[in-house]
Amino acid sequence: MFALQKRHTFALPTSAKELIEITDTEQLGELRYTPDTWILGEGSNTIFAADYAGQVLVNKLRGMVIEEADNAWLVRVAAGENWHDLVVKLVHDGMPGFENLALIPGSVGAAPVQNIGAYGVEIATFIDSVNVYDLKQHRQFSLSNAECEFGYRNSIFKRSEYAHWLITAVQFRLPKEWLANLTYPDLAVLPQQASARDVMEHVIQVRNAKLPNPNELANAGSFFKNPIVSKEQYAALAEQHQDMPVYPVSESHVKLAAGWLIDKAGLKALRIGDIGVHSRQALVLVNHGRGTGEQLRALAGEIIREIKRIYGVDLEPEVRVLGSSGLIAWQ
Ligand code: FAD
Ligand code: EPU
Repeated sequence: MFALQKRHTFALPTSAKELIEITDTEQLGELRYTPDTWILGEGSNTIFAADYAGQVLVNKLRGMVIEEADNAWLVRVAAGENWHDLVVKLVHDGMPGFENLALIPGSVGAAPVQNIGAYGVEIATFIDSVNVYDLKQHRQFSLSNAECEFGYRNSIFKRSEYAHWLITAVQFRLPKEWLANLTYPDLAVLPQQASARDVMEHVIQVRNAKLPNPNELANAGSFFKNPIVSKEQYAALAEQHQDMPVYPVSESHVKLAAGWLIDKAGLKALRIGDIGVHSRQALVLVNHGRGTGEQLRALAGEIIREIKRIYGVDLEPEVRVLGSSGLIAWQ
């Protein structure tokens, strides 16, 4: 049995039947893939809600190579490097681009999986290609940006049929021509001539004010995705809720703020046992210390039901929540 509490930021006291740390690509050829294999980085978007009866592979591959091209920096980073450390290094070394994505916890290898995004930027914009090791067929290949099928909090890597693809490295392309992206409302206070370092520091400040630090209060960031609804559904809702935040998606659809829906539904004080809604950000569920997987399932289920009842909107978890043999089905 391998303890998982320190391997995921929601910190439930669960365990795995088997756990292997991958520190060298040489190890990959020896791994035996089973359908209950779960690939793990730093566990900031994974919750082990019960003792896991399968094998957990923890990616700890390290290393980085930076090349200079005429118009861009080409940065190849091993999957086990820490994301925020990479952002700080590149911004400090004069290679801007990732500043809006500062302080997102986790590993570089997980960044393409849900196409991490924050403050108006998604990582898909900068991904050139992703190196993959197929644990079933024991072969390596690379996927281009288009082949990764990036979307909002989505990519090909989230599909269950590709659960045996282990990302070993990511190639980023950072154009030398740079403009601060200040489109997100929280960044509008910055002047257009703000440097990448200014933007990064501001993003860190905003995040520290809103989001709980997992080292102080266990959490996994936004628990639900922001729901995408038709413009007709939004128009009907906006008639009753004039101050409802909304973000453009396409000609026919918009994105709503799930945190706002949960907050305005009066669910911020909701708590079951030691699992609760965060007081400053209703989209974040927290573990006050002695929470259990059952309490988490009960609380998340209640929020899903209430948001459907009040607004007619379906909420879908963003975090990957695992039961004893795999992902939990919520619907
Ligand atoms: P893990 O939880 O270990 O894994 C996440 C998923 O990726 C799993 O499905 C896992 O199987 C898969 N995976 C991991 N590594 C590999 C690999 N090498 N190969 C194949 N599959 C792999 N996310 C955002 O997008 N924006 C935010 O602003 C944001 N803020 C957050 C704030 C807080 C306080 C927290 C706790 C989380 C936040 N997140 C945010 C979520 C999280 O930081 C990201 O999803 C991050 O990319 C997860 O990295 P990880 O290494 O911890 O992933
Ligand atoms: N809001 C409330 N009450 C709340 C929470 C939010 O009224 O309790 C309102 C805010 O005032 C704002 C709107 O809802 O008008 C959106 O809130 P915020 O800017 O905090 O962002 P979010 O939509 O809740 C998303 C991402 C975050 C990302 C931020 C910044 C998702 C699921 N979440 O949150 O990502 O950091 O935008 O870009 O898309 C994560 O994925 O784990 C994560 C933290």
